[in-house]
Amino acid sequence: MANVVVVGAQWGDEGKGKIVDWLSEQADIVVRFQGGHNAGHTLVVGSNVYKLSLLPSGVVRPNTLGVIGNGVVLDPYALVSEIERITGQGVEVSRKNLRVADNATLILSLHRELDALREDGAPGTKIGTTKRGIGPAYEDKVGRRAIRLMDLSEPDNLGPKIERLLAHHNALRRGFGLPEIAEKTIYDELTGIADKVLPYQDTVWRLLDEARRAGKRILFEGAQGALLDVDHGTYPFVTSSNTVAGQAATGSGLGPGAVGYVLGIAKAYTTRVGEGPFPTELFDEDGRLIGERGHEFGTVTGRQRRCGWFDACLVRQTVRTSGIDGIALTKLDVLDGFKEIRICTAYDLDGTRLDHLPASQGAQQRVVPVYETFQGWEGTTAGARSWSELPAQAIKYVRRIEELIGAPVALLSTSPERDDTILMHNPFED
Ligand code: GDP
Ligand code: IMO
Ligand code: MG
Repeated sequence: MANVVVVGAQWGDEGKGKIVDWLSEQADIVVRFQGGHNAGHTLVVGSNVYKLSLLPSGVVRPNTLGVIGNGVVLDPYALVSEIERITGQGVEVSRKNLRVADNATLILSLHRELDALREDGAPGTKIGTTKRGIGPAYEDKVGRRAIRLMDLSEPDNLGPKIERLLAHHNALRRGFGLPEIAEKTIYDELTGIADKVLPYQDTVWRLLDEARRAGKRILFEGAQGALLDVDHGTYPFVTSSNTVAGQAATGSGLGPGAVGYVLGIAKAYTTRVGEGPFPTELFDEDGRLIGERGHEFGTVTGRQRRCGWFDACLVRQTVRTSGIDGIALTKLDVLDGFKEIRICTAYDLDGTRLDHLPASQGAQQRVVPVYETFQGWEGTTAGARSWSELPAQAIKYVRRIEELIGAPVALLSTSPERDDTILMHNPFED
């Protein structure tokens, strides 16, 4: 029995939350391994809608352990408020079903402030971040000046750590013309929340290793998508972590062999929030219609998502950079009723045909998609729970996507609802 990692195969918001929730019925543990509360994962279970940013999607199932791994950047205030919100929806959260890596990096208010300041700064430098402080926190982590969760359990040792952090941040703040921050302000911020988050801390790498040896099933829940990966994405319009499947091991403290089956999640079309290149973006009525029918507004920031046709060229690339074994294709129902649907199969760059997106920023902006046009289907796929309920033309569309991206469709999702999911191949039984 394989463990399974779920990763976004596009620019995020592919429906990872729904698929992780559906798969977590078969899992003992669900682990977040990168990102932070920039993620927004939506779960629809009957009349309940859960919007999760930091909590692993398995948390809504009573017998599943949720784990936040060392690769995550953790805003302790955001964690506590999410726990309160989800508890208000009737989900119990305690040490029994949630553990957080003691070596996870913390996001502080100064990170949020810096993130927002940069975003609202000089024209042309905007990334379109979620302003949650994700980038600045990862910078401090690799800069070896971050405060980590376990530091909260030794308040007497916090002083020099804060001093080191502020030596960097106050220099930056002076440059921005901002007032400097006093050591005590950060000390109070940290000690003011410690009691509420420390109960969840654990030696996560050991917990996961023991679970694995005991034959427990682990489901790794990726955030963002492969095209937002800091190495493999559309740099600099990316997030600040590795979002590809390889990160599941590093971000949770297991070896690469523990990961198992890689399930990529892709929408039957493409969306992106924030700035950056998007070759198949639509600015016409088709784009507007996709956005409206797909309710393409961000879970975290409420921003309108940009919409476009399915880009097989990009997903084929992410199949390779993440080692994707199979795809969960979501939101097929949003394409119901379209007369014509297009798929991008390659790019044209200054007269040269390309089968991938080049790494250069200039080239990424200049590529022109080469399309294949597909006849739409009559009837509906919405809410279909078996392959036989799908219109023949919709099946043809799915088969063509498989051919173009070089990976099979293992799951098909036809509505936001948990059970409106068609299983072709169970990733856990690989
Ligand atoms: P995530 O970040 O990858 O977890 O995705 P989000 O939750 O941010 O965005 C996906 C949205 O699409 C959510 O509102 C889901 O409820 C919804 N959704 C997921 N799968 C489907 C589907 O197959 N059909 C439709 N119509 N909506 C879906
Ligand atoms: P889920 O997990 C879509 C995007 C932001 C911005 C860029 C950098 O719900 O799929 P950041 O705040 O991370 O520094 O922003 O990344 N972004 C996402 N887009 N879905 C997400 O998460 C995202 N998380 C970050 O819009 O373009
Ligand atoms: Mg999302």
